[in-house]
Amino acid sequence: MAHDHTHVQEFFGARAADWDRRFPDDAPAYAAAVAALGPRPGDSVLDAGCGTGRALAPLRAAVGERGRVLGADLTPEMLGAAVRAGRAGSGLLLLADVTRLPLRDRVLDAVFGAGLIGHLPDPERDLGELARVVRPGGRLALFHPLGRAALAARQGRRLTDDDLRAEPRLRPLLAASGWLLESYTDEDARFLALAVRRS
Ligand SMILES: C[S@@+](CC[C@H](N)C(=O)[O-])C[C@H]1O[C@@H](n2cnc3c(N)ncnc32)[C@H](O)[C@@H]1O
Repeated sequence: MAHDHTHVQEFFGARAADWDRRFPDDAPAYAAAVAALGPRPGDSVLDAGCGTGRALAPLRAAVGERGRVLGADLTPEMLGAAVRAGRAGSGLLLLADVTRLPLRDRVLDAVFGAGLIGHLPDPERDLGELARVVRPGGRLALFHPLGRAALAARQGRRLTDDDLRAEPRLRPLLAASGWLLESYTDEDARFLALAVRRS
């Protein structure tokens, strides 16, 4: 069944024009997270919930001209900002819901998702959809330029154990959706969970 993503589109639609101005210093962190994901020349990769496309250039640099870079987002204004920032040259932008991807099974080598997991309406099922399109042995990066505690502080909320990104919750969630959590980092200036698609 399709989810109603209207609130996500309204929330990010209202913020798209200012998105990159609000976070001007994040580019090195995105490049480092893409390097940790480790796409190779010729790979096919997806930036799931790509927003203004901040990861597209490092993804393109990693996969080279022979590779394929897709950026999928369901908020048109975010994709519009990506185009205006000149990032459409790094990848093919899709106005698409990553919980129902218009892709065949196992066509990708890796998925990068920054700031995405908290917006997935049915995380187990939706991470399973990302697993569906990745080949066995392919990889997933769930990234945020702030760790859990720093993000909670910025948003004025308390950090709780039922946070999806807490390792005790994330590891079984990934396992149930076809992924094996390989490494987990939760520092003030970086949240990064790397997982491998199980065969
Ligand atoms: C916090 S923003 C992060 C954007 C970008 N990844 C970045 O790091 O700058 C989350 C993005 O995910 C998108 N998004 C949320 N749910 C989505 C879904 N089901 N399918 C596609 N995009 C989605 C939103 O429209 C928004 O652009």
